[in-house]
Amino acid sequence: MRAVLSVASECAPLVKTGGLADVVGALPAALARQGWDMRVMLPAYPQVRAAVEPGPTVMEEDDLFGGPGRVVRATAAGLQLYLVDAPHLFEREGSIYLGADRRDWPDNPERFAALSWLAARLAREGDGEWRPELAHGHDWQAGLMPLYLARHVPTIMTVHNIAFHGLAPADRRHWLRLPEAGFNADGYEYWGQVSALKAGLVHADRLTTVSPTYAEELQTPEFGMGLDGLIRHRAGALQGILNGIDTEAWNPAMDPAIAGYDAPEGKVAARRDLMIEMGLEEGTGPIACVVSRLTSQKGLDLLLEALPALLERDGRLVLLGSGDAELEDAWRRMEEAHPTRVAVRIGYDEALSHRIIAGSDAILIPSRFEPCGLTQLYGLRYGTVPVVALTGGLADTVIDANPMALRSGVATGLQFRPITALKLTNTLCRLCDLFDRPELFREIQNNAMRQPVGWDASAADYAALYAEVTAAP
Ligand code: ADP
Ligand code: GLC
Repeated sequence: MRAVLSVASECAPLVKTGGLADVVGALPAALARQGWDMRVMLPAYPQVRAAVEPGPTVMEEDDLFGGPGRVVRATAAGLQLYLVDAPHLFEREGSIYLGADRRDWPDNPERFAALSWLAARLAREGDGEWRPELAHGHDWQAGLMPLYLARHVPTIMTVHNIAFHGLAPADRRHWLRLPEAGFNADGYEYWGQVSALKAGLVHADRLTTVSPTYAEELQTPEFGMGLDGLIRHRAGALQGILNGIDTEAWNPAMDPAIAGYDAPEGKVAARRDLMIEMGLEEGTGPIACVVSRLTSQKGLDLLLEALPALLERDGRLVLLGSGDAELEDAWRRMEEAHPTRVAVRIGYDEALSHRIIAGSDAILIPSRFEPCGLTQLYGLRYGTVPVVALTGGLADTVIDANPMALRSGVATGLQFRPITALKLTNTLCRLCDLFDRPELFREIQNNAMRQPVGWDASAADYAALYAEVTAAP
């Protein structure tokens, strides 16, 4: 087997705040089938330490940004791990990114510089038995790794979300062990600050992002979040590789969380169970659902405005999510206003997300931007028709039920643009119209369930890229 080190701040099922964790957790098995032994380096947060089988210490530092640190081998859930054990950085309660005040931990730059530093060391030195041929970093938390590595080992950076830059005050650059020569517009400087993401985008040999459309969008001012110029400059090194999902964990026929089914007709039981669990009254319209972080990216404020269109057609909404306090409150109020038609669960609950997606007729994803998105893929797999904004990975994974797609029998969902409350309102009406034509709706569900949403094709793309960057020049 060939060897690759994956470096990230999250990895399912050990620690997760979003889709990044799913992807980092799924890639090792998918790449093993392509002949690559992928091991994952991540911080030894308390919940990770509690969940793994620890192995030997393979690397130590007396002073890892303010305290001792080491790299410990570990295994869990079929994953081969290298954990950065540095109690002064990672041994704390609460969110992995935020303190109790819901703000970033003030030492986030050091915390993830430590991850990147030890990843670079492991990539160069190996652990005595295993040495990667290349290192693959994810998002800003791994951004300094390619810079620290200084081309001693080939690197790939994947952008899962360009909204997060990993900024640090300029005067911390020496403390972060960054070379003075790189503190300029062509290097890791971003408007007078240190940007970990920019460092990665500048120094990695190749860049990827999680869908072909997002790869295009990143090159525009509208989506590039200030880094579009750099991305355009590096366009020749950039590739969009679509995320897949774990088709075993998300398999409606074998899902332990629900009354299983393998065709849309079989959704009846899961649908009824969901209505009962959520205390919803039967209606004649569709049950739509949302499973999401509640942040402005996800466009759920637009859905607050558009929802009356669904309710007027006797539809129902089930929402599971957590995030911004204002959005949480607004959704709680929406539930209070329509207790028999709208069910809102604030929180994070994996099993509940399966029951909701299985029991609903449609899943709504009105994101303002969406690098890939995973829940529309769950929707496809479960015959739960995705209704999505036409952006990023949502554009690449759903086939809109336009007249020609309906005539040729290939539609799998609904898409809308511009991404406004008005257009979402119209699209919810379109959903209700389709739902009123059961045979047609069934056909869309059937098409959806047949889509290849697993990892095979994309894992082959990553394997081809790895082979390319490791090939002798
Ligand atoms: P993002 O990474 O931007 O949050 P994705 O669609 O890529 O968006 O991934 C989100 C992941 O997190 C999915 O696996 C989704 O099911 C899960 N998720 C989000 N919110 C919740 C929640 N409240 N409860 C359970 N799972 C959730
Ligand atoms: C990010 C994006 C999401 C993507 C996920 C995994 O969190 O917001 O669209 O699916 O990363 O790549």
